[in-house]
Amino acid sequence: MLLLYVIIVLFFTHTFYYLIMAHKQLNIGLFGFGVVGEGLYKVLNQTESLKAKIVKVCIKHSNKKRNAPSSLFTTEKDELLYDENINVIVEVIDNADEAFEIVSTALRNGKAVVSASKKMIAEHLPEILQLQQESGLPFLYEASACASIPVIRNLEEYYDNDLLHSIKAIVNGSTNFILTKMFEEKLSFNDALLLAQQLGFAESNPKLDVEGFDAVNKWAILINHAYGIVEHPSNLLFNGIQNIQLGDALVAKEKNFEVKLVAQAQKLKDGKVAAFVLPQFVKHDDHLAFVKNEYNGVVIESGFADKQFFYGKGAGSFPTASAVLSDVAALRYDYKYEYKKLYHHTPHELSNDYFVKVYVSFEEWKHIPKDDFEWIEEWHAGEERKYLMGCIHVKELLGKIWWKANNTSLILAPEPIVEDIDILRLKKRSLELAGIE
Ligand code: HSE
Repeated sequence: MLLLYVIIVLFFTHTFYYLIMAHKQLNIGLFGFGVVGEGLYKVLNQTESLKAKIVKVCIKHSNKKRNAPSSLFTTEKDELLYDENINVIVEVIDNADEAFEIVSTALRNGKAVVSASKKMIAEHLPEILQLQQESGLPFLYEASACASIPVIRNLEEYYDNDLLHSIKAIVNGSTNFILTKMFEEKLSFNDALLLAQQLGFAESNPKLDVEGFDAVNKWAILINHAYGIVEHPSNLLFNGIQNIQLGDALVAKEKNFEVKLVAQAQKLKDGKVAAFVLPQFVKHDDHLAFVKNEYNGVVIESGFADKQFFYGKGAGSFPTASAVLSDVAALRYDYKYEYKKLYHHTPHELSNDYFVKVYVSFEEWKHIPKDDFEWIEEWHAGEERKYLMGCIHVKELLGKIWWKANNTSLILAPEPIVEDIDILRLKKRSLELAGIE
């Protein structure tokens, strides 16, 4: 009888709690009214059912003309951070240090936070994890990686740690847009970049996109939710598309490949994880070859489900605002990331002990440390540029600059990770002895 009573009381308390949460009025203080901030304002105005309202917007420059009533704006951040009526802070500015300051103060002041600042989150992950533990408040950031694709919540909720073999993705819309426009529509690099800027895809400092910083920041966030790895982005092996030449695209075409900026993480045989962001040759039938323009794509390979492919717009005002909106909506249910792979499983360790198959194009042999290669299996000398294909240990790339300097371009081969190096060495040796190689 007592048990029945307890069950009934629990049922009603929980139902009541969720009813209250579901009808909670969310009063939002918004930081930033750029591409994403304005997008969110418009999207929220069309989503009345959400019971969420932007009550104040903090901006940097008060004299810019904005498409919203002027009474909404202030330049005083404390008007939002210390307003007791505001229970949610949404932060979509592009200064990582200021963003971190805002997020920390908001959480300490008891406000739930939604952010899209990938650089800030990636660079301050340890502090952000601690702040969430101390405050017990939700800090959601789905928009920070792959914009409209709900990849963080999927990795967090759906994939069990041990089953996730690999995750391979295009996470930067601008570079994918530039590669598509250059190699399929024959635009110059500068024209393609300008277009990406005009369309609101690029960062205000486009070097962050082009040189791979934005992609590696997103990758540092995603490998945390996929494998529980907490690593500063600068410790990951990465590059952007700045060195890719037209000649590289021609070689790719001959071999029936596409060139993409690919972020990859893969569980190795020793249980550690290889993770990097580098240009990569992608086979025509690879899901990522299908990802064009500002779209992003994520291929997840897990134990029983095999391959799954997520596809959607990875940059732009409304696609990014849609992810922010979804996070705001999740606050009605007090949704929080549990960081399951970090706190509930044994987190994986990052490995830098594996080999990769690479294509390198360059101007002069003297710029290439040939002896650092495990082997070179193909080379070609054209009039202007030369190229080779070979296998190299990642420690010969990490912290070294030869493969980014002197107009040298390094692109990974498809399926680049080599684990069975001893077997391959033996095979190569016997082919050489047989006079076949
Ligand atoms: N500059 C970023 C990109 C915006 O191009 O992917 C979305 O994060």
